[in-house]
Amino acid sequence: MRQYTSKNDEQELSLQKEYMRKAASYVDGLAEQLGRRPLCCVTTFGCQMNARDSEKLAGILMQIGYEPAENEADADFVIYNTCTVRDNANQRVYGRLGFLNSIKKKKPHLKIALCGCMMQEAAVIEKIKKSYRFVDLIFGTHNIFKFAQLLVTMFENTDMTVDIWQETDQIVEELPVNRKYPYKSGINIMFGCNNFCSYCIVPYVRGRERSRDPKEIIQEIERLVADGVVEVMLLGQNVNSYGKNLDVPVTFAQLLREVERIEGLRRIRFMTSHPKDLSDELIEVMRDSAKICRHLHLPVQAGSDRILQAMNRRYTKAQYLQLVDKIRTAMPDIAITTDIIVGFPGETLEDVEETIDVVRRVQYDNAYTFIYSKRTGTPAAAMQNQVPEEVVRQGFDKLLKAVQDTAKERAALLQGKVLEALVEEVNEQDGTLMTGRLSNNMLVHFPASQNRIGQLVKVSLDTCHGFYYTGHVVD
Ligand code: SAH
Ligand code: SF4
Ligand code: F3S
Repeated sequence: MRQYTSKNDEQELSLQKEYMRKAASYVDGLAEQLGRRPLCCVTTFGCQMNARDSEKLAGILMQIGYEPAENEADADFVIYNTCTVRDNANQRVYGRLGFLNSIKKKKPHLKIALCGCMMQEAAVIEKIKKSYRFVDLIFGTHNIFKFAQLLVTMFENTDMTVDIWQETDQIVEELPVNRKYPYKSGINIMFGCNNFCSYCIVPYVRGRERSRDPKEIIQEIERLVADGVVEVMLLGQNVNSYGKNLDVPVTFAQLLREVERIEGLRRIRFMTSHPKDLSDELIEVMRDSAKICRHLHLPVQAGSDRILQAMNRRYTKAQYLQLVDKIRTAMPDIAITTDIIVGFPGETLEDVEETIDVVRRVQYDNAYTFIYSKRTGTPAAAMQNQVPEEVVRQGFDKLLKAVQDTAKERAALLQGKVLEALVEEVNEQDGTLMTGRLSNNMLVHFPASQNRIGQLVKVSLDTCHGFYYTGHVVD
C-alpha cells in the first residue's frame, strides 16, 4: 500500500508564501487601474470540508490585497468552490456561471475561477472548456494549496488556466485562513475517503484517506484558541478511521482525549462518523468528556439489509440499531442525526418501510434526506435496476413525514430545560434576538446583547417551535 505523509510540507509552504507576494503585486496593479481596492467573492457549495477550504481561499485572497464583496455582482474576482455529490449541485453551478458571464460582458476585467470536487471530473472540465470559455482559472481538490501560484499564472496569461491533479501525497497547512466565525472553526483532521460506498463519488474526487499528524492538529487548535475560538469541529469523511494509516497509529478516541486537554477550548464537535468504525472507546471518551458536544451525526443511508449491502455500507440494520442503543445507554441526552438516501437502484417501497422503521426506533433529532443521484463512475450508476421517479417520490414523501414527526417529538422533550448555548449571531428575522446553539446542535433564540456573541450562556428553553426554541438567558 502507498505510504502517505501526514506532516506539513514546510518547503511548499514557503514557496506558496513567495507566490502570495507576487500575486499581491498584481492585485496592487489592478487597484491602481480601478482606483479602489479590488473586491472578491468566494461562493461555497457542498459540505463542511468545502466550507473550510473556502476559508483558506478567502485567507489567501485577503492576504494578497482583495477585499470582500457584498455580493457576486460587485466582485472583481469570483471563485466557486464546487460540490458534485448529487447532480443538482452541479446544475446550480452551471446556472450561476451563465449569470456570471452576463456580468463579465459588462465588466471584462472580472476574473472567474472554479475549484472543488466537481472539477475532479474529466467530463466537467471538457464541458467548461467547450461551453464556458470565459472562465479564467480551474483547479481541483488536491492542489488547493497552490492557489496563490495559480493566481499568478492566471494574471500572467489570457488563456484559461487549468491545473487538475489526480491525487497528492502533500499536506500543506498553515497558509492564511479567513474564518467565517471568530469563535468557532472547522479543522481538517483527515482528507479523502477509502470506503467506496457504491453510490458515492467522494472517494473519486477527494482521493485516498490521509490523516494529519496529531501534534500538528493539536497545535493548530491551540493557535485557534489563542485567537478566540471556543468551539472546534474536527472534519473528515469518516473520522472514526482517523489515524489508522499513520506511522504511529492513533485512534480517533485518543485524538479526542488530547483535544479535550487544550485549555480555553470549550466545545468539541466532529463530522462524519461511519457506523461501521464507531468504537466502544469513542463512546467512552464522549461519555466522560466535558467538552465533546452531545450530538452524533451517524448516517444510516438505508434501513433494508439488502440495500445496505448493495450500498457497500458494511453494517446491517440490526447492527446499526444495536450501536444506537449502546450510544443512548451511555449518553441518554445525546442528539443523533443522520443522512438517508431514497431511490438507490433496486430499492422498493418495502425497503423504504425498513428505513422508516429505523427512523421511528432511533428517534432522530434531525435527518437529511436525499433522493438518489446517479454519479458517473460509481458502481451504483452501472446497476440495471434504477428506480422510477414516481416510486422514489412516494417513498421520499413518506420518509420525510416520519422524520419530521420524530424530530418534533424529540425537540419537545427539552421544554422548560435550562441548557448551555453558544451565542452565535444576531437572529436573521428579529434583530433584538440572538441565536444560540445548544450542545445537541439545536438552535434557540433569545433576547441578549450583541456583545455576548462567542460566549456560552445558560438559556431557559421556554417555547418549542417544532425544530427550535425561543427562550431567555438565566445567568
Ligand atoms: N462521509 C459522509 C458523507 C459525505 S456525503 C458519510 O459517509 O457519512 C453526504 C451525504 O450525501 C451522504 O451521507 C449521503 O447521504 C449523500 N449522498 C452521497 N452520495 C449520494 C448520491 N449519489 N445520491 C444521493 N445522495 C448522496
Ligand atoms: Fe461517500 Fe461513503 Fe466515503 Fe461517506 S463514507 S464519503 S458516503 S464513500
Ligand atoms: Fe460535495 Fe465534495 Fe463535500 S462532493 S459533499 S463538497 S467532499
